[in-house]
Amino acid sequence: MSESRTPTAKAIEGSNAIRGLWSSRFAFILAATGSAMGLGNIWKFPYITGENGGGAFVLVYLLCIAAIGLPIMMAEVLIGRRGGRSPVNSLKAIAGHDRLNPAWRMVGVIGVIAGFLILSFYSVIGGWAVSYVGTAASGQLTGQSADAIGAIFSDLLADPLTLLMWHTLFMALVMFVVAKGVRAGLERAVTFLMPALFLLLLTVVGYAMTTGEFGRAVTFLFQPDFSKLTTSGILVALGHAFFTLSLGMAVMMAYGSYLPKGISIAKTSIAVCVIDTGVALLAGLAIFPIVFANGLEPGAGPGLIFQTLPLAFGQMPMGSLFGTLFFVLLIFAAWTSGISLLEPIVEWLEEQKGMNRTRSTLAAGFVCWLLGIASILSLNLWSDFAPLGWIGMLEGKTIFDLLDFFTANILLPLGGLLVAVFAGWVMSREAMEKELALSKPMFRLWYITVRYITPVAVGAVFIYNLFGS
Ligand code: TRP
Repeated sequence: MSESRTPTAKAIEGSNAIRGLWSSRFAFILAATGSAMGLGNIWKFPYITGENGGGAFVLVYLLCIAAIGLPIMMAEVLIGRRGGRSPVNSLKAIAGHDRLNPAWRMVGVIGVIAGFLILSFYSVIGGWAVSYVGTAASGQLTGQSADAIGAIFSDLLADPLTLLMWHTLFMALVMFVVAKGVRAGLERAVTFLMPALFLLLLTVVGYAMTTGEFGRAVTFLFQPDFSKLTTSGILVALGHAFFTLSLGMAVMMAYGSYLPKGISIAKTSIAVCVIDTGVALLAGLAIFPIVFANGLEPGAGPGLIFQTLPLAFGQMPMGSLFGTLFFVLLIFAAWTSGISLLEPIVEWLEEQKGMNRTRSTLAAGFVCWLLGIASILSLNLWSDFAPLGWIGMLEGKTIFDLLDFFTANILLPLGGLLVAVFAGWVMSREAMEKELALSKPMFRLWYITVRYITPVAVGAVFIYNLFGS
């Protein structure tokens, strides 16, 4: 549209005002945590930790959060707030204002592509959670053996039509909130759901502490055994740091554009990182005691939480009730994350193509839904189909695996790398100093990190993985 051709200082300073702002810093934290905290924490973190041998992997993951994730999150929020528009146009506006190459808006474009790809399979897993609400509520889990619980899960995966139904329902939930607009829908939804999920997770941890092999789980999670750490494990840990914090696809940029001026970007980002990481570790502490107590396989893969938690709910008093509640809350966690995957795409369609909100939501949602069908089929009918199997590293990966691998381990770190380079090398330093309003030494620490440490670290992990083995 014509207004974005010549972005002026006014466009940058004034644009926040046109759009709804978060009502407070707290609301922003809730929404950003709502985005960050999702299936990544409860579904993905435990299973990749199991697959990658535990402690050493967890340590690398924590390092990636602190040294790479947090600084990039700050950079994203900063760019978003300064630009005050959808990610693509924020980058374009800042680039125009600081007389930079407009090609920088590609960072936003990568984000839009990553959003499509992630949401397509994310919604399928969200669908699993929807399905388990019924499984738990109907009492089917009560007193079941590990084998019987495993069979419930494999029966679900074997049935494309049921998966399609739940995937459709999940996408519809996401689209419904996005269509209503961020302020009206998101803030209200997030305010009471996130704390509830946290409490329920604590309940399961409490149960696991008293009945499961808690000590072994703690050792597994926190005692690093570096002989178990592989090159690809490091890439997975790095990729997951981006995935779990919703970084690298401009989501935090989009949310940052709603953050009122004068609120500390550093403090808010730290809060989001700490909460998000805490929830992932809690999920690990809930799941691994059950894994060990029942002789299950920590490296069981994507089905891990659906094969362990139901077992616990089947044994604990009032398990059907707790199980139902747990999966309902898991849906909410996935829902708020799904919303944040769709939101930037919709914002972009609105600004760029001039579509109204409802129509852009329908269009973007439909594409994700359609793409999701490929993930559904790769769990059953296409489970032997590995389209890129001839590439060593991608051997045996189904479409679903590929989407996960390509987005989390390649696209997001790449997006994050570009954000770091944009902030560290391209954007005006004074503008950033003003926006972050940190003390001199803290600003320098952040600046050096995004300027040198992050690009080198991400680049090294990439190169090492491509050529290392
Ligand atoms: N962080 C979410 C989770 O852990 C997933 C997610 C939501 C995401 N929005 C994102 C990942 C944007 C990357 C980019 O479940």
